[in-house]
Amino acid sequence: MVRLLLDTDPGIDDALALFLALASPDIQLEAVTTVSGNVHVDFTTRNALALLELAGRPGIPVARGCDRPLVRQPVIADYVHGQNGLGGVMLPEPQQRPVSVHAVDVILQKILEAPGEITLAAIGPLTNLALAVRREPRIAQLVREVLVMGGALRVPGNVTPVSEFNIFADPHAAHIVLHAGWPIRLVSLDATNHADMRREQFNALATRSHPVTQCMKAMVDYHLDDFGKARGITAFHMHDPLCLAAAISPDLIDWKPAYVDVELNGTLTLGATVAYFEKMEDIDPDLAHPRRSNVLASVGVDVERFVAMYMERIHNAFSLAR
Ligand code: RIB
Ligand code: CA
Repeated sequence: MVRLLLDTDPGIDDALALFLALASPDIQLEAVTTVSGNVHVDFTTRNALALLELAGRPGIPVARGCDRPLVRQPVIADYVHGQNGLGGVMLPEPQQRPVSVHAVDVILQKILEAPGEITLAAIGPLTNLALAVRREPRIAQLVREVLVMGGALRVPGNVTPVSEFNIFADPHAAHIVLHAGWPIRLVSLDATNHADMRREQFNALATRSHPVTQCMKAMVDYHLDDFGKARGITAFHMHDPLCLAAAISPDLIDWKPAYVDVELNGTLTLGATVAYFEKMEDIDPDLAHPRRSNVLASVGVDVERFVAMYMERIHNAFSLAR
């Protein structure tokens, strides 16, 4: 059983990742913490509450987190996810409220009360995680593992030519997280760009008319018809769901140790993730970086197995008997 803490900025692919967590009997979703990212944390928190209620899981605690990055000016991705973050899909107003404590307090409390037990998956900007590990550095030794959806190591970025959105949205937080000393699996665009699902596959899931699969279809249709059509994108990049799936089955992904750092001073390159896979001292000792890696980096993915796992779990969990 994976005892999971999900830090998220729903967001269409975040919603698809959340549904996978809820559809997985081997995941115990301890809490959902929200952050500003794709849209403001007011929306991401409301969306998290509404998505959980749509899936019939109103009891899972949601804690509101940081509303802006640590240093830089906020950026959002409503041009990708729609103004409300869910592709304009209007879910019923949630009946539940977020818990009264801040997301950072929930992250600290959950990890400190269950040493070695908690898996932390971050699928939005890393602001909450950075503040948590700054407040209580020992959580880096007490967490079971940290999965981060973020970065573009040997592929172009998706928000600038060199930066991936989650890192670009809060590069200083990413720097803190990458150097905190906890065990990180970094699920970057190098893998998630290949983790595509087609419209027909979402349509097939929606034929069982469950509100969750109807919601999934509507969000993906919006994304492909609005953002995708103008860019020749015909399949949905399952960035966050792949990160979530890696918490369940890490062997879906090929991993390689790497030393990864973030550009904090570049004008054109802010938020770029620079990865050293090989030791650099052979080339130029001044380029040599610390002799140790700080992440397991995703360098490949078994797309068929991932998509099959995703569809099977969603189908089994969210099908209304006809
Ligand atoms: O670059 C992809 C990431 O940025 C995903 O987490 C998506 O939700 C956006 O936040
Ligand atoms: Ca996200």
